[in-house]
Amino acid sequence: MIIDILTLFPEVFSYLYSYSIIGKALENNKFVLNTVNIRDFSKDKHKRVDDYPYGGGPGMILKPEPIYDAIMSCKTEKSHVVYLSPKGKLLNQEIVKELARKEHVILLSGHYEGVDNRIVENYVDEEISIGDYVLTGGEIPTMVVIDSIVRLLPGVLSSDESFENESFYQGLLEYPQYTRPENFRGKRVPKILLSGDHMRIKKWRIINSLYITLSNRPDLICNNKLDDTTSSLIKDIIKNI
Ligand SMILES: C[S@@+](CC[C@H](N)C(=O)[O-])C[C@H]1O[C@@H](n2cnc3c(N)ncnc32)[C@H](O)[C@@H]1O
Repeated sequence: MIIDILTLFPEVFSYLYSYSIIGKALENNKFVLNTVNIRDFSKDKHKRVDDYPYGGGPGMILKPEPIYDAIMSCKTEKSHVVYLSPKGKLLNQEIVKELARKEHVILLSGHYEGVDNRIVENYVDEEISIGDYVLTGGEIPTMVVIDSIVRLLPGVLSSDESFENESFYQGLLEYPQYTRPENFRGKRVPKILLSGDHMRIKKWRIINSLYITLSNRPDLICNNKLDDTTSSLIKDIIKNI
């Protein structure tokens, strides 16, 4: 996969090159990451990329021409152009899985009051928000999207770091996890996890996943269909009550 980031602040993304799993994935050529500085495409003698909003109002808007030229500098017929924006669809694991299947993703990182809407309407395939709040710029949302995609790419996580039991992957939040010591300040690890009985452990985890999801994110239960393995394990638990 190739990821191109269109930004006014390419230096912010140096973090990704040194950060453990993502940095290693880059080093091992699991994906290619390029940053494109939108300002390099400004034809203004002062390299300006923003201007006042038509109709008035506070703040500045990113002009369409440099963004258009920046997109065209890397776009091919395989490209999927994403604009990170609080007005976009809320990012979730399903969207991440879809993005991880693309050959080429272009991530447009906005700034100031956002980008001229003619770019969004005509040259962006998808608008994605990372949450119902407004940040100062699209750099952090872009990094969130990259991190979430890259860990799903083949060979990025080792086999013992599988994401299939993680929160959201099968529509439920992850069950509670524990590690050594068995007794931490008088708080013990649930006995069942020490039993070695894999089937009982699996059932314990599913019941706990359901409990945590119902307590913290009931919307996930309403909006997702359980996968076949989880449903048959739950049916089995009910049968044995
Ligand atoms: C200050 S925001 C612009 C907000 C815009 N005026 C609005 O009210 O929707 C500047 C940039 O930050 C990014 N941004 C801010 N919040 C975001 C969010 N929740 N998700 C994704 N991108 C966000 C976008 O790229 C946006 O263009």
